Amino acid sequence: MNQQKIDKVLFVCLGNICRSPSAEAVFVKMAVDRGLNIEVDSAGITGYHAGEAADSRMQTHASKREYNLTSNSRQVVVDDFYHYDIIIGMDASNISALELLAPSENTRMKITLMTDFCTRFNDASVPDPYYGGAAGFELVLDILEDACEGLLDRLQ
Ligand code: 4NP
Repeated sequence: MNQQKIDKVLFVCLGNICRSPSAEAVFVKMAVDRGLNIEVDSAGITGYHAGEAADSRMQTHASKREYNLTSNSRQVVVDDFYHYDIIIGMDASNISALELLAPSENTRMKITLMTDFCTRFNDASVPDPYYGGAAGFELVLDILEDACEGLLDRLQ
């Protein structure tokens, strides 16, 4: 990650209804707890769920940990690459798609993998929970909490 000041963060997954809205909620809560003022949003590689609230299963699991998933799904747009300081994908396929969408070499350098910020989990990605059961949603939150802590430690 470059040493430039980072105060605008975008989290990205495939549909923007499970992982990235959760990353947004976890990060916002932790940033507020640390007294940090960081602009945060999330978006999807696809627009299949554009306008929809977060997946109800994801909301249920998140709310048990007191995370409130408030954002509605939207697709990544080219302007995001200019506006945000760092663009964080949840898995390797998100990263590849973001790299193809990036409008320039400078903006491509803003793309980072979420699990690179983990200090406890060794997983190579935040796994897609959409077609799985409850354990998958819990694992998403466990990895996101680890990664968000690591990310905030690097930003401070
Ligand atoms: P997300 O999960 O990328 O974490 O929001 C998914 C949501 C929807 C689909 C796949 C993954 N889908 O195939 O519709």
